[in-house]
Amino acid sequence: MRDIDKIYVDGAFVTPHGTEQFDLFNPATEEKIGTVRLGNAEDVRVAVAAAKRAFPVMASTSKAERIAMLHRLSDAVRLKAGDLIAAMTEEYGAPAYFTGFSAQNTASIFDVMAATVETYEFDRTAGSSVVRMLPLGVVGAITPWNSNFGFIATKLAHAIGSGSSIVIKPAEQSAIQTQLLVECIHDAGLPSGLLNVVNGTGPVVGAELTTNPDVAMITFTGSTPAAKIIQRAALDTMKRLVLELGGKSPTIILDDADLDTAIPTALMTGFANSGQACVAGTRILVPNSRRDEIFQRLKSEAERLKVGVPTDPQVRIGPLANAKHWERVQSYIQLGQQEGATLLTGGEGRPGGLDKGWFTRPTIFTGVSNDMRIAREEIFGPVLGVITYDDDDDAVKIANDSEFGLQAYVLSSDVARATRIAEQLIAGRVVINGAPHDPYAPFGGFKQSGIGREIGAYGLDAYLEPRAILKPTA
Ligand code: NAI
Ligand code: MG
Repeated sequence: MRDIDKIYVDGAFVTPHGTEQFDLFNPATEEKIGTVRLGNAEDVRVAVAAAKRAFPVMASTSKAERIAMLHRLSDAVRLKAGDLIAAMTEEYGAPAYFTGFSAQNTASIFDVMAATVETYEFDRTAGSSVVRMLPLGVVGAITPWNSNFGFIATKLAHAIGSGSSIVIKPAEQSAIQTQLLVECIHDAGLPSGLLNVVNGTGPVVGAELTTNPDVAMITFTGSTPAAKIIQRAALDTMKRLVLELGGKSPTIILDDADLDTAIPTALMTGFANSGQACVAGTRILVPNSRRDEIFQRLKSEAERLKVGVPTDPQVRIGPLANAKHWERVQSYIQLGQQEGATLLTGGEGRPGGLDKGWFTRPTIFTGVSNDMRIAREEIFGPVLGVITYDDDDDAVKIANDSEFGLQAYVLSSDVARATRIAEQLIAGRVVINGAPHDPYAPFGGFKQSGIGREIGAYGLDAYLEPRAILKPTA
């Protein structure tokens, strides 16, 4: 049992004013594994005051000082990678292949920002004016449970890179992961007040953060519905917003695709992080000309993916994060059938042999039309819909017919052809043939997938604003 009873304010672990307790569970066993004491609005006010005091210190740091802080953080995270992986496995249930990537990626986020700061032009000219890119003030950050420590790292890295201070409200369900990460950040010895972390719920801690007049901007990663509440809350004080939201990403299998690689790629993209990934390719677009062959391959290969406990290295799909979320995903599997889609594989209930834990059967629907709710709404579990198309233009039209625009995938044996398709897609990132993660590529979405971008110079731009000084001519 881990009892997390402190929050992190002004460089120290302190007891929150809030007294409410929240239980933490292991999703693979449904056992209670700990508790977290939640902060309240007063805790946010104290944390924001600390960040406000730290802001001028941060704003006046040099590039070299920011880069040094970022490298200290990546070193600190690498030292604790094993502990972070163990916590993510226990508290969240992600399969080993994903937790390993997460820990590695969390460390590299700081290095990528260090490289970005190195080349970013804070001082510029425009016409005859002198322009400097200035940080905005205290940043308020809110993160989701599906990759909690990666997002804390992303938001902290942008704060340091821009010369801001930050107050983070992490996902309350991920308190053990938060605690470990903040302990290792604490060891890196940052200026007091630069980073403050207040555990708590969205309606309490999140609400104070998004309305507090001393918070200049909000960076939020989470669902589109929560983002709309946040955007309204932030309006009165005119906070700047970066919103990284949901998706319903298309995976277009072109008619020349090599199925030996395309099918496994489409499945791993759709079932990434047990389907709990904003970037998951959950609409698989299949050419009518190869429909039977592709359906059969999707079915047989999906049924070979191992579902089970996250510690088993062969497992590709672990449990969903919590009981409420499991119920929600089950309701979408029912809905798909009510809407008239056909189960190619999977269905309701737990997979055979797993009678405990929030496990879901990897489910693929065929006969899906793009106007069904299962094709339009983010399910956030291992539930995929296959939509057939006539030709490339039809595929592009279906892919772009979505309220979301976060990511898209194209699979083809001809990269030049895939690129021509990619150029017609409205998505923050288009990935061709399962290309590896690029830690330098801008990340974020069009339409209701968000506002703004994170990573690299595109990310820093959102945390900075230009001040121009116009001097009289001599
Ligand atoms: P959520 O939107 O329910 O919660 C995210 C965070 O917002 C949590 O910390 C929550 O406590 C907080 N929150 C909720 N209501 C709030 C309010 N009224 N005011 C302030 N804060 C509030 O999302 P969840 O369920 O934690 O995560 C899954 C969602 O996150 C999915 O929709 C997924 O697509 C999205 N996501 C987006 C990513 C991206 O980078 N585009 C990456 C990962 C997840
Ligand atoms: Mg939620």
